[in-house]
This record gives sequence, C-alpha cells and structure tokens, in this order.
Amino acid sequence: MDLILFGPPGAGKGTQATRIKEALEVPQISTGDMMRAARREGTPLGKKFDEYMQAGKLVPDSMVLELMKERLSKPDAAKGAIFDGFPRTKAQAEALDELLAAMDRKIDAVVVLDVPLEDIVDRVTGRRQDPTSGQVYHVRYNPPPAGLEVIQRKDDTEEVVRKRFEEYEANTKPVLPHYEAKGLVKRVDGVGSLDEVTERIRSALGE
Ligand code: AP5
Repeated sequence: MDLILFGPPGAGKGTQATRIKEALEVPQISTGDMMRAARREGTPLGKKFDEYMQAGKLVPDSMVLELMKERLSKPDAAKGAIFDGFPRTKAQAEALDELLAAMDRKIDAVVVLDVPLEDIVDRVTGRRQDPTSGQVYHVRYNPPPAGLEVIQRKDDTEEVVRKRFEEYEANTKPVLPHYEAKGLVKRVDGVGSLDEVTERIRSALGE
C-alpha cells in the first residue's frame, strides 16, 4: 500500500505513521527525518536543508525529489510506503505519481489529519525527541519515560511553527485537489488521544 499522511506541522503524522506502519507492512518515509539525518551528518546538502528548516520554509523541490528518488529505490520500499510530510507542493505530488508509476504503483489513499492552529502550537512547542531512537514524545500528552534524556527540535519554537503553518496553508494545502479529483482523500479528526486518532485512521482505511 502507498499511503500519504497529510496535515499541518504537528498534526501527528509522524506519531501515527509509527503506530500503523507495522500493520501495513510498509516503511515510514519522512522527508523531514531524512533532512535532519543529513544535517546531523554535516553534509553540504544537510547544511543547505538547515537554512530552510530553521526559517520554517519549504526546501526546494529539486532537492527533496532527489532524496525521495533515492529512498524509493531501497528494497524496504519495494511494496509500498507511508509518506509522512511528502508531497508538500504540486510539483512534488506530480513527481511522486511518476516515480510510483515507473514501479507500477500508485497512491492508494491520502489521510488528512485535521488539527486547529492553537493545538498545533501547543503540540509542537511541547514536542521532545529521544536523540538515539528518534521516538517522539510530548511533555504533557505523551511524556518521555523518567530519566530519558530528550531534546527539542530547533524549528519547534512558536515563531517558526507559525511560519511553517503559513507555508502549509499557502503551498501544501493546495496539493489536496490533486488527490480529491481521484477520490483518494479521507479526512480524519486529529484531535483526541493517540489511540483514538489511530483508530479513526484504521477505520478510514477500512481496516
Ligand atoms: P517535518 O519534519 O516534516 O515537519 P512537519 O510537517 O512540520 O511535521 P512535524 O514533524 O512537525 O509534525 P507531525 O505531523 O509529524 O507531528 P508529530 O507526530 O511529531 O518538516 C520540517 C521541515 O523540513 C519543514 O519545515 C521544511 O523546511 C522541511 N521539509 C520536510 N519535508 C519537506 C518537503 N517534502 N518539501 C519541502 N520541505 C520539506 O506530533 C507533534 C507533537 O504532538 C508530538 O509531541 C506528539 O507527541 C504530539 N501529538 C501527536 N498526536 C497527538 C495527539 N493526538 N494528541 C496530543 N498530542 C499529540
């Protein structure tokens, strides 16, 4: 299955992808995670990503598509994937269609997590991450185990998340009609406990 988890920053795309990927038997592909990995490695490309990410701006399509092409060629993605944070522009959506078509595949569903801006700011500013495993927590809604040292993402400030939300509204939300025209979009209320949202996604997917 090829599934897109769609929604504004902090909607819970990464959290939910982690919770459903085993049942779907496909990997989670997060362009944000791939960019942060390149940044940690200190590659010239990673430094370029950092400039955009710190400003809450989208990384140019050509760079993102290079990453995606390489990622989709890995054996674990041979039978499907959960796309988390991708595509974010119309050009990325069209390029993804082409990449999948070349593998005899197509997007099966697009699940949109609806979460209002005030919850997004609360979620993103309270997000913490285990730097070793990558596991995501929230200081109140999903607290890390006692004693675990967690870090905060550099772009998780209120100022930057508001910028990221503007980018979402201006460039990413307009991607939806591309999938609506194909009848693939399923809207899910992203406000509720982690388990409730997982259940809504499963039921939207007919599981
Ligand atoms: P990216 O890493 O993709 O960030 P994002 O889309 O802004 O999404 P987030 O990772 O912030 O949130 P999420 O929806 O995964 O939420 P999460 O599950 O963590 O992108 C970062 C940057 O990289 C972009 O700004 C851009 O610069 C660049 N980039 C990446 N991809 C790109 C692309 N394709 N094109 C161009 N540029 C690109 O949850 C958030 C918090 O809420 C957590 O603390 C979690 O514990 C908590 N939470 C989750 N669910 C619930 C719930 N139901 N109730 C309460 N709390 C919850």
